[in-house]
Amino acid sequence: MIRFKSIISRIVILHVVAVVITSIFMSLALSWLLNYATNNIHNKAMQEQAVSVGEHLTARSDGDLELDLPLDLLGLYSQPYGRYLYAVIDDRGRVLFSSLKDHAALFPADSESADVEFLQQRRGDATVSGASIKKTVGDKTVWIQAGEDLANRDVLIDDIVADFYRNVGWITLPILLVLLIADIAIFRRALRPLRQASEIARDIGPTRTDLRLPTEEIPREVRPLVLAVNQALDRLEEGFRIQRDFTADAAHELRTPLSILRTRLDILEDQQVGRALRQDVEGMAHIISQLLEIAELDAFVIDPFEKADLRSVAAEVAEFVAPLALAQNKDVALLGAAEPVWVKGNPEMLSRAIRNLAENAINHTAPGTTVEFVVEENGTVSILDRGPGIAEDERNLIFQRFWRRDRRKAGSTGLGLSIVQRIAELHSATITVENRSRAGARFSLKFSLLHL
Ligand SMILES: Nc1ncnc2c1ncn2[C@@H]1O[C@H](COP(=O)(O)OP(=O)(O)OP(=O)(O)O)[C@@H](O)[C@H]1O
Ligand SMILES: [Mg+2]
Repeated sequence: MIRFKSIISRIVILHVVAVVITSIFMSLALSWLLNYATNNIHNKAMQEQAVSVGEHLTARSDGDLELDLPLDLLGLYSQPYGRYLYAVIDDRGRVLFSSLKDHAALFPADSESADVEFLQQRRGDATVSGASIKKTVGDKTVWIQAGEDLANRDVLIDDIVADFYRNVGWITLPILLVLLIADIAIFRRALRPLRQASEIARDIGPTRTDLRLPTEEIPREVRPLVLAVNQALDRLEEGFRIQRDFTADAAHELRTPLSILRTRLDILEDQQVGRALRQDVEGMAHIISQLLEIAELDAFVIDPFEKADLRSVAAEVAEFVAPLALAQNKDVALLGAAEPVWVKGNPEMLSRAIRNLAENAINHTAPGTTVEFVVEENGTVSILDRGPGIAEDERNLIFQRFWRRDRRKAGSTGLGLSIVQRIAELHSATITVENRSRAGARFSLKFSLLHL
C-alpha cells in the first residue's frame, strides 16, 4: 500500500483514479443508452413501415387480397436498394406478397403472435430486424412484416459510438486537469488556517504558555485536533503554573524563618559569630529573593502599551546601588542622554535588569574605579566596569541559571543574568556583552524606542 505524506497528493491521485473509472463507466453507460435508443427508433420505424404497407392492402371482390404500393414505397423496397424489406403472410402461413427475390417471409409466421411484434432473423449473411403487425383486411387476417438489413444500420451506430469514445477521451483530459487544479487550489485555501496556526504554535514555549491555536477558520475535520492541542496546552500551562507557584511559595515560606533567624542573631551574645552568621543569612536572603524574581518573571506578561523613561530608570538604579559601591571604595556615574529616553517596557522590569547588571559590575570592578551607566538616545543602556571582563567562551554560560565563575563566593547565586535575559526577552530587547579596550566588561541592553 502506497502511503501519501501529503493530503493534496492523496486527493489528486484518488481523483485521477475516480475520474478515469467514471469516464469509463460513463462512456459504457452512454453507448448502451445510445444503442437502446436507436433500437427503439428502429423498431418504431419498422412498425410504421408495416402499417403503411398494410394501408395499401385491399380485398378484391373475389375475396383475394391485392397490394398496390405507390411508387415511393416501391422504390424503398426495391431489390437494388436492398435495405428495407416487407412480406405479407396469411393465417395459414402462406406468403401473399414479399419484396424478396425468393418470395419468402422475413420472419417465421406465428398465428399466435400479438398485434405488434419485433423480431430479428438471419438471412444468409445478413441480419434482418423489424416488426410484424397483425391486420384484418376484409374477412382475412394477415401479418405484415417490415424489416431492415442491419448491416446498413450498424455501420452508422458503430461510427457514432467510436466517435463518442474519441470525444469522451479528449474531454476527460481537460476535465481531469481542471479538477486537479481546483483540488490543489481548494486544498491550499482550506489548509491556510492550519499554516497560520502552525506559525502561532512555533512561538509557544516555556516563556509563552499563554498562546493558543486559533479555531475559528480551521476546517471542521481538523478542528478536533486543534482543540485537543489547545486543551493539552491548557494542561501544560497549568503544570507550569503549579511549578512557578511552588517556587514562589517556597521562597515566600523561607522568608519567615530567615527573618526569625535574623532577630535571633541580633540577640546573640557573641557578636563576632553573629556578624559572620548574619552575612550567611544575607546570602540566603539574596538567593531567595532572586528565586522569587525568577518565579515572578516566568508568570509575567508584558503590557504592550507600557512605556518607561530609560534615563530616569537608570538614574534611580544608580542612586540605589551607590551606597553598595561606596562601601567597597568604588564609584558610580550616570552618563549619556540629557533628555528622557522613552522606550516600550515596564519600568519595574527595566529597573530590575539594570540593577542586576549594576550589581555585577560593582562586584567585579576593581576598587577605586567607577561603574558607568550610559543611556543613549537610541534606547540603549550600558553598564561599564573595570573588572576582569568576560572571556569569549563564557559569554553564553553567564546567562545560564546558577552559573557563576566562582562557586564559593558568598551571596552569588548565578541567577542575576538569567533574570536580565528573561526581561530582555519579554521586551524583545537585545543584550550585548563585550570587553572594554583596557580592562573591564560592557553589558548593553537595547530596547525599542517609543515613537511619541
Ligand atoms: N561585570 C562582570 N564582570 C565579570 N564577570 C561577571 C560580570 N557579570 C557577571 N559575571 C560572571 O557571571 C556570573 C553570573 O552572573 P549572574 O549575575 O548571573 O550571577 P551572580 O552575580 O553570580 O549572582 P546573582 O546575580 O544572582 O547575585 C557571575 O558569577 C560572574 O562570574
Ligand atoms: Mg549578578
